[in-house]
Amino acid sequence: MAHIPYLESLYPLSGRSAVDIGAGEGIFSRQLDEKGANVTAIEIDATKVDWARAHLPDAITVLQGVAEDLPLKDASQDVVCMFFSLHHVPKDAQDTAFSEILRVTKPGGRIHIVEPYPYGTMFDVLRFVEDETTVRTHSHAILPQLPEQLPLRLVAHREYTLTRAFDSFEDFAEQIIRIDPARMEVFPQVEHEMRAVYENAVEEEAGERVLRQPCAAYHFEVTGSA
Ligand SMILES: C[S@@+](CC[C@H](N)C(=O)[O-])C[C@H]1O[C@@H](n2cnc3c(N)ncnc32)[C@H](O)[C@@H]1O
Repeated sequence: MAHIPYLESLYPLSGRSAVDIGAGEGIFSRQLDEKGANVTAIEIDATKVDWARAHLPDAITVLQGVAEDLPLKDASQDVVCMFFSLHHVPKDAQDTAFSEILRVTKPGGRIHIVEPYPYGTMFDVLRFVEDETTVRTHSHAILPQLPEQLPLRLVAHREYTLTRAFDSFEDFAEQIIRIDPARMEVFPQVEHEMRAVYENAVEEEAGERVLRQPCAAYHFEVTGSA
C-alpha cells in the first residue's frame, strides 16, 4: 500500500482541490496531480520550494508556508493532506495548525494525515542523525483523539508499511540530509555505525534495495467549522 492509492480508494481525486502540507520536494504532490487533483504544495523550506517549482508540473502551485499559517483562502480545499509532516510541526503550534486546516477545508471535505511510527528499518537508520521517537509518538497519541476535540468524523484508518528504494547508503544519507540539512551536523560522527546498520537492514525487493517505514493513515471528514 502507498499513500496516494489509499487516499484515492477513499476519496476519488479527479477534479478536487487538494493541498499537500509539508510537501518537501513534492513526490506526493506530483502523484495527486497525476490523479487529476488541482494541487497546491506548501513547504516551509525555501530550497525545497525552489526545487519543487523547477521540477514539478506547472499545474501544481507551490507556495512557501507552514501548517500553522496556511497561505490559502477559507473553505478553498476539498482535501488537505499531510504525509509524514505533522511531527515536523512544533508541538505548541499543532492546535493552531489544526484550526488552519479546518479553516481552509470545505464543509464535508476531507483531511488525510499519514504519520510514520518510531520503528521500522528506515527509522532504525534515520535515528542516528535524528531520533524522532518523541514527536512521532506524540502524533500517534493525538490523531485518534481529534474527533473528540474538533468537528471531524473518522472515516477510515489504516496501518501499512511504506517501502522506499535507495540506490546506496550514500543515496539514503543524501536524501535524509536534504529533508533537514541540520542533520549534517552529526552525520560525520555517526556515519560509520549508521552505514553498518543500513547495510544490515536494507532488503532486496523486485531488484531494488529498500527500507521499510510502518505508518498509520487517518482519513477524516469535516463535519462543521472550528
Ligand atoms: C519528512 S518530510 C516529508 C516530505 C513529504 N511530505 C514526503 O513525504 O516525502 C517533512 C516536511 O515537512 C516540512 N515542515 C517542517 N515544518 C513544517 C511546518 N511547520 N509546516 C509544514 N511543513 C513543515 C519539512 O520542511 C519537510 O519538507
